[in-house]
Amino acid sequence: MKPMNVGLLGIGTVGGGTWTVLTRNQEEITRRAGRPICITAVADRDLERARQLTGGQATVTDDAFALVKDPAIDIVVELIGGYTTAKDLVMMAIENGKHVVTANKALLAVHGNEIFAAAQRKGVMVAFEAAVAGGIPIIKALREGLSANRIQWLAGIINGTTNFILSEMRDKGLAFADVLKEAQRLGYAEADPTFDIEGIDAAHKATLMASIAFGIPVQFDKAYIEGITQLQAMDIRYAEQLGYRIKLLGIAKRKINGVELRVHPTLIPAKRLIANVEGAMNAVLVWGDAVGATLYYGKGAGAEPTASAVIADLVDVTRLHTADPQNRVPHLAFQADQLTDLPVLPIEEVETAYYLRMRAADKPGVLADITRILADSAISIDALLQREPEEGEEQTDIVLLTHVAREKAVNAAMAAIEALDTVHGKVTRIRLEELNG
Ligand code: NDP
Ligand code: HSE
Repeated sequence: MKPMNVGLLGIGTVGGGTWTVLTRNQEEITRRAGRPICITAVADRDLERARQLTGGQATVTDDAFALVKDPAIDIVVELIGGYTTAKDLVMMAIENGKHVVTANKALLAVHGNEIFAAAQRKGVMVAFEAAVAGGIPIIKALREGLSANRIQWLAGIINGTTNFILSEMRDKGLAFADVLKEAQRLGYAEADPTFDIEGIDAAHKATLMASIAFGIPVQFDKAYIEGITQLQAMDIRYAEQLGYRIKLLGIAKRKINGVELRVHPTLIPAKRLIANVEGAMNAVLVWGDAVGATLYYGKGAGAEPTASAVIADLVDVTRLHTADPQNRVPHLAFQADQLTDLPVLPIEEVETAYYLRMRAADKPGVLADITRILADSAISIDALLQREPEEGEEQTDIVLLTHVAREKAVNAAMAAIEALDTVHGKVTRIRLEELNG
C-alpha cells in the first residue's frame, strides 16, 4: 500500500528520537497503521547533522517552508519548537491541506484556538500527544478513554526538569544550578530553561489538559503560574516532617462558577502514589465522576519517550486520514461548536489548603495573636509545627497547615500576620492539595 509521506521539521532531540524509533520499529508500526509511515523529507538548520542521522534515506533541506508546501508530503511533524516560525510553518502546512503532528505545547497553549480553527476549516488533523507529559498517552486518555465522565479535576507532575531538580535537591542535597545543568545535558530542559523552572512549560501543558477535560477554549493567558525558584530547602524539610512532599503541580479544577487553572509548588501527602514520582518522571491524576481517580505515569521528556507519542499520533492520523472530518476525534475532545465559556477563575478566588511558615518571637501570646488573625478570617488550622529554638535564639519558625480556605482570605490574613511586631519578615505560603477526591 502507498506509504504515508512525512515531512519532519527539526531533527534535534525529539526529531532524532522520532527518526530512530520509526526506523527501528518500522515493521510493527506498519502492521498497526495499515500502511508504511515514511519520513521522506527533513528540514533542519544543521544540514550536516540531519544528513548524518538520515543516512541518505530522506531528502534534507534547511528550507522548512519549502517542505510544508511540498505536494508529496501528507503529514508535517513540527519539532522545532517556539511560537513564531513554528506557528507560520504549522499554519502554512494546514493551508496546504497537510495533517500536522507536533510536540510544541508552547505553540498550542498560546495559539491553539487559531490553529485548531484553521485545521477545522481545512478538514485536517492537528495531533499533539507529545505536547503533554511526553510519552504518557494522557491526551488520548482524556479525550477518548474518559469520554463518559464529567471530569472534576486533574493534577499533574508535568515538567520533568523541575521534578528532577526537586528530587535531586531533596535526595542528594545538590545545588539548584548544578541539577539544572544536568537536566539540560540529559535533554529534558526547554531551549530556554526559564520555561521549566518558572512553571511556564507546566502551565502550557495544564492549559491544554484543562481545555480537553472541560471543553473550554485554550486560555494560557489566564493561568496562574509560580515556579520553583523561590522554594527553600527548609520548606521541603518542614513539609516532610508534617508528612508531605513538595511537587510542582499543574492543576485544573471545575468549580460551579468557573475553572481553576494553576501551576505552583504544592504540598501533597507523602503517602499518595503521585508524591513518590521522582526524577524526570511525570504523572497525571485525573478524577472523573464515573471512574473516580485514575493515575497515568511515565517518562515525560527525552528523545525516545517523546518520539513514542509523536509516532502514536502518526499512526492515528494514518488510520483516520480518509475518515470524514466530522467523524474524527475533535481536537479539544468536545465538538468545536460545543466548547463552553466557563471562565478561568482569578487566583484570589481559588480555594485550597495552605502551608504558612513565619519567623516569630519565641514569647507568650505570639501564637495566640497569629491564630486569632486566622480565626477572624474564618481560616481553620489543621496542623501546627513550632521549631524548638536554638540556645539563645529569640525567634523561631512556626509552620501552620490550614484547612481549605479562599486565597483572598489567606492573603488578608498573611498581611495582618506580617504586620505583627512579633513576626519578622514575610510569611511563606505554599498551597496544599490532599488529592483524595
Ligand atoms: P531541539 O532544540 O533539540 O531540536 C529542534 C531542532 O529544530 C534543532 O535541530 C534546531 O536546529 C531545528 N530548528 C529550529 N528552528 C528551525 C528552523 N526554522 N528551520 C529548521 N530547523 C530548525 O528541541 P527538542 O527536540 O528538545 O524539542 C522540540 C519540540 O518538542 C519543542 O517544541 C519542545 O518543547 C517539544 N518537546 C520536547 C521534549 C524533550 O524531551 N526535549 C519533550 C516534549 C516536547 P538548531 O539546533 O540549529 O537550532
Ligand atoms: N522541558 C520539558 C520537561 C520537556 O522538562 O518536562 C517535556 O515537555
